[in-house]
Amino acid sequence: MGKYLTTDLAINLGTANTVIYTRRQGVVAHEPSVVAMQERLNGSRVALHVGQAAKAMIGRTSEQVSIVRPLHEGAVADCDLAQMMLQHCLQKAGSRKKLHSLRFVLGVPAQCTAIERRAVIEAARAAGARGVYLIYEPLAVALGEGLDIREPYGRMIVDIGGGTTNVSVVSVGGLVYNKTLLQGGEAMDEAIIAALKRKYHLDIGIQTAEQLKIELGNVLPHCTPQRLQVEGTDAAAHTPCLQQVTSHDIRDALIDSIHTIIDAMREVMGQTTFHRI
Ligand SMILES: Nc1ncnc2c1ncn2[C@@H]1O[C@H](COP(=O)(O)OP(=O)(O)OP(=O)(O)O)[C@@H](O)[C@H]1O
Ligand SMILES: [Mg+2]
Repeated sequence: MGKYLTTDLAINLGTANTVIYTRRQGVVAHEPSVVAMQERLNGSRVALHVGQAAKAMIGRTSEQVSIVRPLHEGAVADCDLAQMMLQHCLQKAGSRKKLHSLRFVLGVPAQCTAIERRAVIEAARAAGARGVYLIYEPLAVALGEGLDIREPYGRMIVDIGGGTTNVSVVSVGGLVYNKTLLQGGEAMDEAIIAALKRKYHLDIGIQTAEQLKIELGNVLPHCTPQRLQVEGTDAAAHTPCLQQVTSHDIRDALIDSIHTIIDAMREVMGQTTFHRI
């Protein structure tokens, strides 16, 4: 097939989000890695929604509908769901699969096992890829940041994802060291839920917690306080209520997660020897 008919797609199939990038158009799809499955009366399951539409259903589903994720802790947990996720994103990207030969470059976590790598390749091929190339995510991050990874300098990459946090050192085109924490942004959302329940006896959902993290999240000691009014449920009375939440509340909730990441960075620094010339 002629070169001009080949579409090269860079894909991050992540625990929280799936992102597709092309050299010509940039990011062409960015969807939550979430599928809403409905259980039929005969016991079979069918996908109702994928991506953004499925994420919007979290906390609003009936007993027959469950929200499932194709990935767990950065690795493919269900190959069929991962294929569905990729196909959905390809559709969003408007890829004309029938005319184009698709080549995927997929990021994989540094701690990925051979079985997990095979699962990614299988899902990609089932989604229509003719060629599948894998790259360690920390190297992809470094390249994306415009770093010359061939240089003989250690560069620390800290990638806080949805389900994992990776602290890596890259040098001379390779991965020198990697430490993976099995917690990322979603654990922070959970920490916010727990903290608001403790402090205000307020129950909020995971999406409100994520919104608070993104809008108020700041762990610097002297940040200008900001506040947001959120809707939740009074944990004791089980009645709807409104509560002002401040950036200090969010800082208190996130501080342990941030210290865990800083400790991991210190450990990686300690394990990596840099030679100054
Ligand atoms: N502005 C922001 N401030 C804080 N957190 C954010 C912000 N934007 C996104 N996030 C969080 O980043 C996380 C998603 O990051 P990302 O898309 O890199 O994860 P992922 O690659 O899918 O997951 P993983 O790398 O663990 O497989 C979510 O928890 C989201 O809430
Ligand atoms: Mg990631």
